[in-house]
Amino acid sequence: MPERLPGYRPPARWLHWIVAAAVLLMIPAGLTMTQEGLSRPVQDTLFLFHKNLGTVLIPVILMRVIYRLTHRPPPLPKTIPAWQRTAAAVSHGLLYALLIVMPLSGFVRVRAGGYPIELLDRLGFGPWIAKSESLADAASALHATAAFVLIAILAVHVGAALQHALIRRDGVWSRMWPGG
Ligand code: HEM
Ligand code: HEM
Repeated sequence: MPERLPGYRPPARWLHWIVAAAVLLMIPAGLTMTQEGLSRPVQDTLFLFHKNLGTVLIPVILMRVIYRLTHRPPPLPKTIPAWQRTAAAVSHGLLYALLIVMPLSGFVRVRAGGYPIELLDRLGFGPWIAKSESLADAASALHATAAFVLIAILAVHVGAALQHALIRRDGVWSRMWPGG
């Protein structure tokens, strides 16, 4: 029998799934738009989508991090062994760090490269970052490396979540799923 557990509060659940859905769109868009041989309109559309959704995500992620820092998550079920508690804490910490590094490095890469972010440009915001090829290159390298680490951790994260949902059925999935 699964334990009856206190779950994450509704804002934590909604913020998790909104950010997760966006990130799961951002990753294939980023990987596809950087491939050779794409037609110009397809590549332009993917860049437009990736840069602008990524920029909109920055304040949402900030809200999520602030909410997390001010609200402790509920305790895990007692059945979870110590090494899995540690693995969850480390991987969740890394995911939060990557959620900050990814959009910021992307933003710096684009602005230091002198490229538009159409939504901000329409709203009349300045570039905020001076043009610099070396800064753009460093941010681009960081963005690509962090993307690789993010994909690897997400593979484990999603695998673990599905294992809790479908095999162990120990209440961990319903702690996070809206509606429980
Ligand atoms: C299909 C995709 C995903 C599934 C099924 C999933 C599932 C879950 C579940 C069940 C939890 C609760 C774990 C617990 O109770 O300790 C959780 C927590 C978490 N997830 Fe995901 N997740 C997904 C995608 C993502 C993505 C894309 C990110 C970020 C890039 C992410 C970041 C996190 C973080 C940081 C936590 C810890 C929440 C906290 O304690 O504050 N997840 N996820
Ligand atoms: C959570 C947010 C983000 C995720 C998960 C993400 C993911 C990715 C991935 C997987 C790639 C392909 C790997 C690579 O070549 O670097 C990529 C490339 C790229 N991303 Fe992002 N990205 C995010 C946010 C942003 C933002 C906010 C911007 C700009 C405003 C941006 C701009 C770019 C650019 C320009 C590239 C092409 C590579 C380059 O020219 O350096 N990304 N992104």
